[in-house]
Amino acid sequence: MHPPPVARVSLFSHFSHRVNPVECLFPKGGGNGACSRDHDLKHTLCSEIPMILIIYAHPYPQHSHANKRLIQAAGELDQVEVRSLYDLYPDFALNVEAEQQALSRASLVVWQHPMQWYSMPPLLKLWFDKVLTHGWAYGQGGHALRGKKALWAVTTGGDHHHFELGNFPDFAALAQPLEATALYCGMQWQPPFVLHGTFNCDPVTLEAAAARYHSQLSAYLLPQAANESTAALAGGTHG
Ligand SMILES: Cc1cc2nc3c(=O)[nH]c(=O)nc-3n(C[C@H](O)[C@H](O)[C@H](O)COP(=O)(O)O)c2cc1C
Repeated sequence: MHPPPVARVSLFSHFSHRVNPVECLFPKGGGNGACSRDHDLKHTLCSEIPMILIIYAHPYPQHSHANKRLIQAAGELDQVEVRSLYDLYPDFALNVEAEQQALSRASLVVWQHPMQWYSMPPLLKLWFDKVLTHGWAYGQGGHALRGKKALWAVTTGGDHHHFELGNFPDFAALAQPLEATALYCGMQWQPPFVLHGTFNCDPVTLEAAAARYHSQLSAYLLPQAANESTAALAGGTHG
């Protein structure tokens, strides 16, 4: 059987690394499919390899400054798949099956976006509404996301003081809808990655943020993280 087609990201295809978990990642001499280890071990290793999926929602990715640099940093890592929603779906016609297949491959799901009006860009909201379906992500038999890790990566134009408004004057309050959604689907909420103050972000600050993002993501690709993910996924993908 042929593997499902993978939607390529137009502007970010060179940052998009896809590893099909049913293919061997340890080919002998770089050949296709020939494994350098014994057959049974090969499949054990392949199934334990962590995958990071970045659901990237920037309405104008070509005009981005901060997020573009962060995506570049993430793309330097192996086993990272970036899906730039506004590039893939300029007409907002989401391919739910393709999105769910991408989620199934991931051990860490990252939702990366610029903050817009204290919330997420509209296509990302639509993504949640359409992709996290009953019986798949939640409800009876809806265990597809259980055990996967969830990370919110957000940039904000304002600094900390920008969020000192209203009855919940704390930036952390803005994470609540995403965190609750992730938990409701049985995911493991991770400490968010936040870059404040992009309106006044100098190159040194942006480079430091890119290094921090790269470092935070790479921690999920370490063997220990892989073991944790495998254990969680083993308990969450069936049933
Ligand atoms: C429609 C719109 C709404 C925005 N709302 C907020 C906001 O509520 N809080 C904030 O700090 N920044 C807000 N911003 C600023 C963006 O978050 C900021 O420009 C972005 O994080 C910069 O990332 P980029 O360089 O990748 O575009 C808004 C920007 C736009 C276009």
